[in-house]
Amino acid sequence: MRRMKFTGVGAYVPERVVTNHDLEKMMDTSDEWIQQRTGIVERRWVEPGLENSDMAAKATLAACQDAGCDVKDIDLIIYATLSPEYLFPGTGVVLEKKLGLTRTPVLDIRNQCSGFLYGLAVANGMIASGMYQRILLVGSELHSRGLNKSTAGRDVTVIFGDGAGATVLEATDEDKGLIDILIHADGRYAEDLTCLLPSARVEGFITPEQVARGEHYPHMAGNKVFKHAIVKMPEAIQEVCKRNHLTPRDLDVLIPHQANLRINEIVGRALEIEPKVFNNIQKYGNTTAASIPLAMRDALDQGFLKPGHLLGLTAFGSGFTWGAALVRM
Ligand code: UT7
Repeated sequence: MRRMKFTGVGAYVPERVVTNHDLEKMMDTSDEWIQQRTGIVERRWVEPGLENSDMAAKATLAACQDAGCDVKDIDLIIYATLSPEYLFPGTGVVLEKKLGLTRTPVLDIRNQCSGFLYGLAVANGMIASGMYQRILLVGSELHSRGLNKSTAGRDVTVIFGDGAGATVLEATDEDKGLIDILIHADGRYAEDLTCLLPSARVEGFITPEQVARGEHYPHMAGNKVFKHAIVKMPEAIQEVCKRNHLTPRDLDVLIPHQANLRINEIVGRALEIEPKVFNNIQKYGNTTAASIPLAMRDALDQGFLKPGHLLGLTAFGSGFTWGAALVRM
């Protein structure tokens, strides 16, 4: 079985910075509450005219430049997002068009905060089987236009931000790259973090009455999600380490999904590797499928993550879905 290595990591965030103080002007919230409960100081929101696929394209070009390849050299695009431009087709083909490609296969996946890990698992299987040599995996989210910016939506709205991350993944005979990955899901919790509309359960997929009631906005049972996240992410890291005869202490760096700084602090303490946990949620909020590649780019730029490091990745989110991976950088 051939291994898969990361040859390029790219990121893009919109220029518009939205601080907690900016949110105070829209809803009944405070900088103090947001920082204490989530660690978030600011996030990015798009300006009109910038779309999910535009952010993905910018992150893709940066990843390809990092990898020293051309977009034409990509064999498959995997696009992870929960904030697509159309109900169908998936946003992957919109990105493909913007990249000037006309034949490259595109796979859209809907695994929310675990989207990047699910995409990594799919890419790994395809590269290991010999089906493809070079895969682009993108996580891109445009949350800001879909958030309830009144007090009724404050628990959800203050945590999410816009942004994109992309990685170029290539087959390798070297002793580096993805060592192992596991992914899990438990659909019993599907409605604890969800956006119910538009929906094929509804005539016309959405009604004016539903919109008037605000049912088209995301809903989150925050406490429940929090309680599961702090158990499932450490468990997944333990599991992937154990089956590779490693312990979490062997990791040089852990990049968890960026949903809440308190969650990641608890995960770091549970695994007894708190100083090795990398976070950038303070600057970007929760960018869902984009958060891991965005954090990888920042960690590389800051020298926190270096070639040769043993990197752990973990994520948890809507579904519930979760997982963990081990990577030799
Ligand atoms: O990325 C996918 C996975 N998502 C997550 O992992 C998110 C997990 N959940 C969380 O991060 C947290 O649950 C939140 C940050 C969303 C909420 O924090 P919390 O500590 O669980 O707060 P809470 O929902 O228990 O609310 C506590 C209080 C409530 O007021 P009362 O009932 O005690 O008077 C809320 O109404 O805080 C209030 N509140 C707020 N106050 C100011 C909720 N949101 C806000 C807000 N500003 N934005």
